[in-house]
Amino acid sequence: MHEIIAIDGPASVGKSTLAKKLSVFYDSPLLQSGRLYRAVALEIKNKKININDRDKIIQCAKSLKNSNINNINLFSSDIDKIASKISAKKYLRDQLRVYQREFPKKYASRKKYAIVEGRDIGTEIFPEAKFKVFLWADPLIRAKRRYEQVTQNGKKVGLKQIYDGIIARDSKDLGRKIAPLRPAANSVLLDTSYLDIEQAFNAVKKVLNQKNI
Ligand code: DC
Repeated sequence: MHEIIAIDGPASVGKSTLAKKLSVFYDSPLLQSGRLYRAVALEIKNKKININDRDKIIQCAKSLKNSNINNINLFSSDIDKIASKISAKKYLRDQLRVYQREFPKKYASRKKYAIVEGRDIGTEIFPEAKFKVFLWADPLIRAKRRYEQVTQNGKKVGLKQIYDGIIARDSKDLGRKIAPLRPAANSVLLDTSYLDIEQAFNAVKKVLNQKNI
């Protein structure tokens, strides 16, 4: 039987990189739940759906396919903004919860773990998960990491602009009424400000090895 590894944390903290490494190392499926919000946001943008049209938004969430979730256009500042807005809607979160809870049953039945990363995985989606990691890093350090990534890809953007974006997203994620970002009960807190990815990966492996009660 698979166990759930829930990884939560703020924007640009390295959840996806860490979760991908774990997924490869343990040959276990990975769900990046932010992609669900982004996929719905992309449908809203492409189909020009009103951001308050509850029925159409629920319909988008219900009909999400792997092709939507793996769409290469999920990562842009337009989609960041729409995803952030719609992620505060309870009806959307309720619908996407269904997808997230199905994921391990569908894809991890013969695997050691199902790895799910996001903002509310340990608190709302899988409160019963055996392994819960809450990642944190200083916002300026997160901004510098993101800046290096983005500029390496040839985009022109200022560090200050990235930093301001991170602060704005933190305050939305931490401050929203529905499913705010916070460490789950029974989670391990890992501040990666002064850790590189390999060190963070090793720390999480230790958690997995030692949590067998
Ligand atoms: O992790 P990300 O940046 O791809 O997430 C995209 C948006 O979705 C972001 O605004 C936070 C939101 N989100 C959420 O509210 N709950 C999750 N479990 C995952 C993402």
